[in-house]
Amino acid sequence: MFSLPQLPYDHAALEPVLSRTTLHTHHEKHQKTYVDNVNGLLAEAGRRPASLEEVIIQAAGDPSSRKLFNNAAQVWNHTFFWNSMSPNRQAPGESLSGAIDRAFGGLAGLKDAFVAEGAAHFGSGWVWLACESGALKVLSTHDAEDLVTHQGLAPLLVCDVWEHAYYLDHKNDRKGFLSAWFDALPNWSLADSQHAAVIGGGELWKHPLPTSAEAGTASASIR
Ligand code: FE2
Repeated sequence: MFSLPQLPYDHAALEPVLSRTTLHTHHEKHQKTYVDNVNGLLAEAGRRPASLEEVIIQAAGDPSSRKLFNNAAQVWNHTFFWNSMSPNRQAPGESLSGAIDRAFGGLAGLKDAFVAEGAAHFGSGWVWLACESGALKVLSTHDAEDLVTHQGLAPLLVCDVWEHAYYLDHKNDRKGFLSAWFDALPNWSLADSQHAAVIGGGELWKHPLPTSAEAGTASASIR
């Protein structure tokens, strides 16, 4: 059984880009619904998976498990999203900065690419900074699609571009939301850690494990 992960900061810590009300609704309504749906579907199937990644990969390969995939991937994406943000304004570390310079000509170029990708994305989805074979790229995924099932494509940061992520605070101005988000909120420490893991063959971020004693596992810490 999966638990709703705690936010790694206070609900008001990301203001003014994301309000306390948005964080409460997004976390305790939207993500909680996805968590509850995953737990319900797994209970119906009598399954006790060892990890959320296992659930996502299995469901992605089974067309009859689309509902489970959508809900499990949305749990993963949201938890990674919470960890992709920090109340403390940061800058990328030296190694990642070099990679950003090579791929985008600098942080301003990355921002332009990230905001443009998210603003142009049609409908609901996610915009990612990712790393593939050491090279950085910006891409977006539709609806619940995540990068867990994309072998070799490691997420460094993600921003939610479903309307529920920004509509209360930014109305229909997705581009303005993305621009403000990129300036103030990226958790570059996470991006540095993910990038270092790709370059050095280390361990990438994993979703917290199921908390049920029946699963025989303990909670994982969130980096
Ligand atoms: Fe969301």
